[in-house]
Amino acid sequence: MENEVAPPGVNINVPHSARIYDYWLGGKDNFAVDRAVGEAMIKAIPGMRYMAAENRKFVHRAARNLVEKEGIRQFLDIGTGIPTRPNLHEVAQRIEPTARVVYVDNDPIVLVHARALMISTEQGRSEYISADIRDPASLLKDPVLLETLDFSQPIGLTLIAILMLIADQDDPWAGVAALRDAMPSGSCLAITHPTADFAPEEVGEAVAAATSAGMTLVARTREAVERLFGDWELLEPGLVPVSSWRPDEQVDNPKAAYYWAGVARKP
Ligand SMILES: C[S@@+](CC[C@H](N)C(=O)[O-])C[C@H]1O[C@@H](n2cnc3c(N)ncnc32)[C@H](O)[C@@H]1O
Repeated sequence: MENEVAPPGVNINVPHSARIYDYWLGGKDNFAVDRAVGEAMIKAIPGMRYMAAENRKFVHRAARNLVEKEGIRQFLDIGTGIPTRPNLHEVAQRIEPTARVVYVDNDPIVLVHARALMISTEQGRSEYISADIRDPASLLKDPVLLETLDFSQPIGLTLIAILMLIADQDDPWAGVAALRDAMPSGSCLAITHPTADFAPEEVGEAVAAATSAGMTLVARTREAVERLFGDWELLEPGLVPVSSWRPDEQVDNPKAAYYWAGVARKP
C-alpha cells in the first residue's frame, strides 16, 4: 500500500493535469489518483507518452526559434507545469543569457516546485507567479510580471498544452485575445492544443476518461485552434501537427502526436 504525503496546499484526492502530464513524462511529482487517470488515458491513446514528449520537444524548438530567428528576449509562459529540464528559460538563456521569463500556473504543486524555475543566469531573470489564465486582467497586473517584462519590447507568449483545460463556456478565445491585446507589436504567440482531428475514437475515449474523473479536457479542431491566434500572422510552416513544426529531424508519422501547433507574430 502506498503511503503518499501531500505537500502543503496540494490535494492528492483529485487528479490534476500538471501531475498527470508529469507522470506521462516519467516524472516523480504525481500521486496514485493522477496515475490512475493517466493510465486510463494511455489505454485510450497508447501513444500518450510519445505525445507528451513531442509536445515538450516543441517547447524547446519554439523557444530556440523565437530567440534565434524572431529576436524575442522575454517570455510569458502560462500553464508552465511541473519543472521539466530543460525548462523554457534554460533553452532561451543558453542562446541569450539576458533572456527573461515569467512562468505562470494556477496549480499548487507547481508552486511547490517553482524554485527550480527561478534559477536564472545572472544576466537574465526567471520568475514564477500563481495566476489563472481565465482572469487575464489580474494576471497582467501582477507586480512581479510588470517588474520582469518590458511591455515596450516584443514578448514571446507561450500557451503550451494549457488551453484544452479551459472549457468553451470559459471562452478561451476571449481570454487569449485579452492577452494578445496587451502584447506589443512584434510579439509572438506559440500554442499547442490537442485535437481529435487525427484520431477521433482514441481521443474521444481519452476525453471521456478524463471527464469521468471530474476533469475539464477539450480537444479542439484546427479551425477552433486557429481562431486563438486572431489576426496575428502565422509563421512558417503555419498551424501544423506538433511534430511537423520546424522539426530537428525527419518525422515519419507527424500525425502520431495529436496536437496542433503554431507560432504567430503580432503585426
Ligand atoms: C499539460 S500541463 C503543460 C505544461 C507545459 N506547458 C508543457 O507543455 O510542457 C498544463 C498546465 O496548465 C496549468 N493550468 C491549467 N489550467 C490553468 C489555468 N486556468 N490557469 C493557469 N494555469 C493552468 C496546469 O496546472 C498545468 O500545469
